[in-house]
Amino acid sequence: MEDIIKEIEKIKKEKRAIILAHNYQRPEVQDIADFVGDSLELSTKAKDTDAEIIIFCGVHFMAETAKILSPQKKVILPRMDAGCPMADMVTPDGLRELKNKYPEYKVVTYVNSTASVKALSDSCCTSSNAINIVKNIDSNKILFVPDRNLAHYVSRFVKKEIIPWQGFCPTHERLEVKDILARKKDFPDAKVLVHPECKPEVVDIADKALSTSGIIKFCHEDNSKYFIIGTEMGILHRLKKENPEKEFILASDRLVCPNMKLTRLEDIYRALTEEEGIIELESEVINKAKEALLNMYRLNY
Ligand code: 13P
Ligand code: SF4
Repeated sequence: MEDIIKEIEKIKKEKRAIILAHNYQRPEVQDIADFVGDSLELSTKAKDTDAEIIIFCGVHFMAETAKILSPQKKVILPRMDAGCPMADMVTPDGLRELKNKYPEYKVVTYVNSTASVKALSDSCCTSSNAINIVKNIDSNKILFVPDRNLAHYVSRFVKKEIIPWQGFCPTHERLEVKDILARKKDFPDAKVLVHPECKPEVVDIADKALSTSGIIKFCHEDNSKYFIIGTEMGILHRLKKENPEKEFILASDRLVCPNMKLTRLEDIYRALTEEEGIIELESEVINKAKEALLNMYRLNY
């Protein structure tokens, strides 16, 4: 393992590459990354970096987002088979049909979506800024795509007419109220933190629903000793590493996203040396999707 880490570090410098990793990635992948974060932080890094190559350790839509925001850079996804089932739950044709049915609505699209779906949207959002985007977009009628659970979460805070696409994250959807209650029995004083991709009834019994980096920030700042974590298990690595005096309990053993677990050090090494897995997008898709992503930055106040 030491050898491959040294090799990756060496080639990375030679090629002026940066490694970005999502908070759900395997521990060894997070540890070798230049930056680990949530979807918004990773998009912002991809937008602002001066590296020539971005190695994106995450899933396909995240690498696409990096390409849209930095089209002149080489963006590589080390595992091309790392997809997101929720992103695939809405197609451009499906969204066009919905837009035709509701022409007076504005489309807010969660970044967990393909570039072609983003290209048909008025603004993108992430889990950390969805409330602001829906609040600040200049319409009271919103088509929210593709996550119905995030749409429901936003509707708790913003009184607008929201029509949700019926997509969901299969990993977060597996978390049940009974799982949390069982963990609460063992750790009655624990704070319960979940992701807004969880079902509404799960969010109802949580202390907070936050993006992955929101959960990490909360655990830094809160004085509790125990935290029950309702999101993908990869987040526990950072939580434990950055807060050795606190205890983190995964809300359910089923909180594993198989796609987020695909990327290994060998894949990163291959991506750097062979430069396979380059993200390519049509310029028309890039231009339209970029507008939706830049609108997200404009509306996030
Ligand atoms: P965030 O890291 O933005 O909270 O996203 C969670 C997620 O499911 C990414 O696939
Ligand atoms: Fe997609 Fe859910 Fe996996 Fe995130 S955790 S990549 S939303 S399936």
